[in-house]
Amino acid sequence: MKTGLYVHIPFCMKKCPYCSFAVAVGQTGREEDYISALEREAFAYKGMAVESVYIGGGTPSCLSTSGIERLFCLIRDNFKVSEHAEITFEANPESITTEKARLLRAIGVNRMSLGVQSLNDARLESLGRTHDADQAVRAFDMLRVCGFSNISIDVMYGFSEQTHVALAEDLKAVLALKSEHVSLYALNIEQRSLYFARGKQVDADAQADMYEIVRRVVEAEGLLQYEVSNFAKPGFVSAHNMNYWRGGEYIGLGMSAHSHRDERRYWNADTLPLYLSMMQEKGNAMTGEELLCGVDKLTEIFLFGLRMNEGVDLNELERRMNVELPMEKKEALESFIDMGLLEEDGLFIRATDQGRLVLDEISARLI
Ligand SMILES: C[S@@+](CC[C@H](N)C(=O)[O-])C[C@H]1O[C@@H](n2cnc3c(N)ncnc32)[C@H](O)[C@@H]1O
Ligand code: SF4
Repeated sequence: MKTGLYVHIPFCMKKCPYCSFAVAVGQTGREEDYISALEREAFAYKGMAVESVYIGGGTPSCLSTSGIERLFCLIRDNFKVSEHAEITFEANPESITTEKARLLRAIGVNRMSLGVQSLNDARLESLGRTHDADQAVRAFDMLRVCGFSNISIDVMYGFSEQTHVALAEDLKAVLALKSEHVSLYALNIEQRSLYFARGKQVDADAQADMYEIVRRVVEAEGLLQYEVSNFAKPGFVSAHNMNYWRGGEYIGLGMSAHSHRDERRYWNADTLPLYLSMMQEKGNAMTGEELLCGVDKLTEIFLFGLRMNEGVDLNELERRMNVELPMEKKEALESFIDMGLLEEDGLFIRATDQGRLVLDEISARLI
């Protein structure tokens, strides 16, 4: 079993109206305190081997160059990062500079994830982004010049007023960048977002139609789907994310970060003041935990497996975890297969194209 390391950098310049991630806006002045807290947190894992590292946010590219240096020192000082580890750093177009990109490359980051969202200026404005399309393209080109040969781009679609023509044009512009990986997310109205508070809605049927366009257009460019929202050129599937979806272990450092280790899942305080004060007073910021074993763990790994195109080998999973999926859940699986939402292919069970659109409903029946 592999272990991944996730480090959450919560700082953002502005809160985007659709976002519900744990972020801290206008708080970059607390960067030094935050990195000191991360140093303390990482020390508890001294000597642990990790096979992938993911610096996510928030907006990691908001960090200063000295913050980035300290961050990678604390990682290397406390974890044994395997020689061929995938090391990803998330960046937003307006805050990633040439100086930071060069530093990241020199420090060993080998994968960048750029939050582009759209290459349509009107769309970017309505999403409340602080960059325009031109800035996003320049940031991408700059990352290439700085030596990054593995770049992922985040894109959002599925807006109520978005036409199929507008979607196809946006996809064409994004794919023209020729990134190795794209993550395409249908807009979700998250409860803790401004969009939710404003009563904004999405149309699930229209999003399902757009999803078909997305898959067709992106795959035609040679990026193969390997998970519901993720597409990669051969050889560029994200190792860190695959480890999550295969039920692997991970350590999460920082505000709101989750860890999964030894049948246990635990998570940190999800506001900056609480995270910092807990780290200072107690040396850890854990605010919750649960034991994950037996059927619950098997079900969870199985459901994650359904998100991947490769699907999941239930018999192998049952053998490995020494527990069986209960009969009523197996019957529910059979009924989803009869409905054409899941399919069996040799040893693997996977979601069909139709099933991928209703994975949340399938999961709710199987939990
Ligand atoms: C950790 S988030 C943000 C990364 C980065 N700070 C940025 O803004 O680009 C990762 C991605 O999730 C997607 N995302 C965030 N909120 C979403 C929502 N409500 N619906 C769909 N996708 C969302 C966006 O594509 C975003 O880039
Ligand atoms: S989408 Fe990204 S930049 Fe916007 S608030 Fe969320 S984490 Fe911050």
